[in-house]
Amino acid sequence: MFNIILFGPPGSGKGTQSEKIIAAYGLIHLSTGDILRREISAGTPLGLEAKSLMDKGILVPDEVVVGMISSALDNNPGAKGFLFDGFPRTEAQSIALDKLLAEKNTAIGVVLALDVSRDELLKRLLQRGLTSGRSDDTNETIISNRIVEYQTKTTVVANYYSKFDKVVQVKGEGTVDDIFNTLSSEIDKRLSK
Ligand code: AP5
Repeated sequence: MFNIILFGPPGSGKGTQSEKIIAAYGLIHLSTGDILRREISAGTPLGLEAKSLMDKGILVPDEVVVGMISSALDNNPGAKGFLFDGFPRTEAQSIALDKLLAEKNTAIGVVLALDVSRDELLKRLLQRGLTSGRSDDTNETIISNRIVEYQTKTTVVANYYSKFDKVVQVKGEGTVDDIFNTLSSEIDKRLSK
């Protein structure tokens, strides 16, 4: 089993690259943002609670997303591996994830961290907001809140996995295919070990 965290700020290309990685490596894609948006569309109590926070660009509580990931792991017993996108986002989530994976006799293989400038993030998300229908892409204040949440609560996740020598920084600007090729070569290096 090989498990990857695709890490990076809002708009860094995690979702875009996840699609290509899961197609190439046969991994299960677990995006907490996508799961939360499905809960919102379905109008569940969890979705209603999450929506009010997501609309402001604020993280939802750790126990909510950890519970979602725990269920998703249980629901995919034969998986070759998992690609975590947008999770973990706090140190508490990282510790919880490592524990859940250890219970299944597996671990994180690599954390691929996409590095993109703030100007580029703003440009991409404002552009997507013109057509995506995502409420958290609609104005610069909400996008800035998301970036501040990332800087204050999420960058510690990279520090946490750095202690285990698992983090690789990858330039997240350029063409989607070039970035994918760089990510793939990092994955291949670890798969061949
Ligand atoms: P989430 O859905 O995870 O969103 P995010 O991290 O803010 O990231 P995005 O999906 O906006 O961007 P991305 O990095 O995936 O980039 P993408 O490929 O889409 O989270 C949303 C909210 O849910 C959070 O704010 C929080 O409230 C909550 N949440 C989720 N997970 C949580 C957790 N674990 N804990 C607590 N709360 C949680 O690309 C962005 C745009 O750029 C696209 O238009 C794309 O086409 C374009 N693009 C991509 N690559 C390139 C490129 N190379 N060049 C030019 N454009 C590009």
